[in-house]
Amino acid sequence: MARLLPASVWTRRRYRRVERRAAGVEGGAASGPGGSGADPTRLPRGGCPPWRAERDEDRGETLPETHRRTARRDRGERTPPPRYLQIDFEREFEKGRAAYDRVVGEWWRERSEDRPHALAYRNIASFIGRLRLPPNPVILDYACGHGSMLLRLYKRFPNARLIGVDGSSVQIEKARNRLRRADRRALDRVRFIESHLPDFSLPRGLADLVVFTFPQIVASPDEQPYYDKHGYRHPVDRVVGKALARMREPDPEDETGDDDPDELFDELMTNRVVGRNMRQLVRDGGLCVRVEYSNSIREGLTQLVQDRTAFEEGSLDRPYAGRKAERYFEYLFGDYHRSRVIEDVYHQTRDRTDMEGGYMTAVLRAL
Ligand SMILES: C[S@@+](CC[C@H](N)C(=O)[O-])C[C@H]1O[C@@H](n2cnc3c(N)ncnc32)[C@H](O)[C@@H]1O
Repeated sequence: MARLLPASVWTRRRYRRVERRAAGVEGGAASGPGGSGADPTRLPRGGCPPWRAERDEDRGETLPETHRRTARRDRGERTPPPRYLQIDFEREFEKGRAAYDRVVGEWWRERSEDRPHALAYRNIASFIGRLRLPPNPVILDYACGHGSMLLRLYKRFPNARLIGVDGSSVQIEKARNRLRRADRRALDRVRFIESHLPDFSLPRGLADLVVFTFPQIVASPDEQPYYDKHGYRHPVDRVVGKALARMREPDPEDETGDDDPDELFDELMTNRVVGRNMRQLVRDGGLCVRVEYSNSIREGLTQLVQDRTAFEEGSLDRPYAGRKAERYFEYLFGDYHRSRVIEDVYHQTRDRTDMEGGYMTAVLRAL
């Protein structure tokens, strides 16, 4: 029975087991809520001391935000809770892609403009800048949001034509204004398409490179027939998807969650349809760069998590349950950065293990 989940948290988290070790987080040292000289950018060893539990809401903000809040509290002023605590993400996502037209969109604007995200976009653009692309490439930003990545790419690739696709008219309008503000003539070589993704009616082979950063494609149950038509019902994919969803880590300590296999199957298949859509948009031999939350470089993830990732991307090259899923991308290489962008995930899950990590980049070639 197909059952597309109404609300997606982030696409499958790429996590390996997190040892409770002290771990540095991008952003530098500062004194913080512990007030004991402890470095607040370090997670405590062996669980959380009581002050951490009491001040849970401090985490997930940028350090300047946390400092402002702490200062206000010290002055005895009432402080409003941070925005993410005021959002019921699950309920918002039940509204489908319109979620990003409202509070979730505002939340994302604040997040994606903070320092960790700005650093991440800069890093990703310079990483992409080192890839071999044609002299005047067409670059498509899949679910471009309000244009943080597009703007970086615009500056980095003066000869490129850029296309931003997103389902939120509000986000697109913000992206358009943003590029126009940066350069009055930007829209000569950047165009936007408002479209509900995945969208298989977009022209095939449109781009030399498709970029997909910090993805969160929201789907709603009434879209199930569309997903079914575009790969969700693919018989071999379903056999492989089921095997990947049911399989457990050989070492139970490596298990990253107690996922219900049916939900996991739905996520794998849903994300695979999105991967197929990206494959359709990139020309044969073209590239796809995916940037996702992770707490490890890809090769450091367990084999099972790597294979689930590859299945969704369309790059899985080994059989499961005696069958091989169709392969439409080849994984070339990737990298990983520790970064506080990971707290985007924490904001939605409120799960402490989602405060450690960063983002991982994968470069795929279209077969
Ligand atoms: C977390 S934001 C990431 C935006 C951008 N990639 C970035 O890095 O800033 C997710 C974006 O996906 C868009 N989105 C979510 N579901 C979508 C759907 N079904 N169709 C089109 N866009 C969608 C939202 O409007 C939002 O702009």
